[in-house]
Amino acid sequence: QFCDAGIGYGEENSRCGTGIGSSNSKLLIKDGTVVNANHKHLAHVYVEDGIILAVDPHITVGDDVTVIDATGKFVMPGGIDPHTHLEFEFMGTETVDDFFSGQAAALAGGTTMHIDFVIPLNGSLTAGFEAYAKKAKKSCMDYGFHMAITKWDEVVSKEMELMVKEKGINSFKFFMAYKGALMVNDELLLEGFKRCKSLGALAMVHAENGDAVYEGQKRMIELGITGPEGHALSRPAVLEGEATARAIRLAEFVNTPLYVVHVMSIDAMEEIAKARKSGQRVIGEPVVSGLVLDESWLWHPDFETAAKYVMSPPIRKRGHDKALQAALSTGILQLVGTDHCAFNSTQKAFGIEDFRKIPNGVNGIEERMHLVWDTLVESGQISVTDYVRLTSTECAKIFNIYPRKGAILPGSDADIIILNPNSSFEISAKSHHSRLDTNVYEGRRGKGKIEVTVAGGRVVWENNELKVAPGTGRYIEMAPYNYLFDGVDKKDAAYLNYLQAPVKRVKSST
Ligand code: URP
Ligand code: ZN
Ligand code: ZN
Ligand code: ZN
Repeated sequence: QFCDAGIGYGEENSRCGTGIGSSNSKLLIKDGTVVNANHKHLAHVYVEDGIILAVDPHITVGDDVTVIDATGKFVMPGGIDPHTHLEFEFMGTETVDDFFSGQAAALAGGTTMHIDFVIPLNGSLTAGFEAYAKKAKKSCMDYGFHMAITKWDEVVSKEMELMVKEKGINSFKFFMAYKGALMVNDELLLEGFKRCKSLGALAMVHAENGDAVYEGQKRMIELGITGPEGHALSRPAVLEGEATARAIRLAEFVNTPLYVVHVMSIDAMEEIAKARKSGQRVIGEPVVSGLVLDESWLWHPDFETAAKYVMSPPIRKRGHDKALQAALSTGILQLVGTDHCAFNSTQKAFGIEDFRKIPNGVNGIEERMHLVWDTLVESGQISVTDYVRLTSTECAKIFNIYPRKGAILPGSDADIIILNPNSSFEISAKSHHSRLDTNVYEGRRGKGKIEVTVAGGRVVWENNELKVAPGTGRYIEMAPYNYLFDGVDKKDAAYLNYLQAPVKRVKSST
């Protein structure tokens, strides 16, 4: 029995199985449409000991191989969620999903790897890393880490090098909001960007003007607006646009690639579009909540309902969602995350008198793959191959783990999903696998159902049943210098040449 008693998969609901997936290490997924980011074709996929050994229309196997029939279904790389917060201590409390429950939920929804944000402990990156490594021991799927930078000194700068060279971290996140807590100023941002560049690590930003948000919050409270709607009103899209533009310009000044997390507004998206058009290396990550929800929930008369939609940057007015979808389908934005950061209604209730105390965060780790499929593929906005790129391959490329992850190719890890386009899904807190007592997508139905998840060669989700065991997930080290760094040195050299070109001054005639 591998069910962690704490996760709530007890006998009262039979959502958890009792095996550790198929004990058979040989697996054949036959007759499905195998989809990669740039190609799809009918083939069988043969897996042994956690690795894809062959992708071919002609494979015959012996009796010792478990066979799954995927006729009429899509066989795709498991989802990679670039943005999660499991067991995250934030705003005086801790998220309810830990590295086991959050990952179990992810697997049930077709995500087979995630990248979580390590928060330094009392400013120490090393201590933060150790703390997260300990939390992640109970993992049931593969994971990687980004690291947040919350202060600046020589020790932090040295520790960044250690993280990149010895701990497998290749990205650092800078919070431009959460004043008095995680927020950094422009001076730190510049130092941080320079350090990232020197290490080949990707700089990431939470882009909101934290000083202005603080001001906006005071304004709302003074006006007597204390409910969840005050959250949206105090931090409008213009503040996200401003910070996105500022981060992009500072990254251009330093000449280092930039990754903007949770792009929630047209304002931020258009800054990214403009920068990319001018040739700057900027990646934009919308999250599922921003793609399919709108802010009207924050005005819901029931506090508990409204509060569950509080996240930062806020979910925006209707229109932003559709614009972000279009930006994904046209290549302005590159991949989809969730920012899964799960707080129960009792935790959200900390802010019943004051929206500033509502812990920020929404769920999504389990819902992302289904919602992106239904919203973008079923509507005809993107192709099936694009779906693979946006949910898996691009993330693997950006964080330098492709083609080990993000592909159905010989030699890749056997992280595979089987999606039935003719079946359907329905989302509810009653049936989801997160520990959360609510769900921001409650009641949503859609087309396309992930019927099988294979993680590390094990069938962990089949027949609506999870078969997961703590300790089976691995830490995936990620190397620096992803593809976005190609050419950065050439641009630097060209600029230096320009700076050093002698000035031929003529003598003034007067
Ligand atoms: O509201 C949010 N987004 N909570 C998680 C922390 C962050 O800013 O990503
Ligand atoms: Zn082919
Ligand atoms: Zn953030
Ligand atoms: Zn986040």
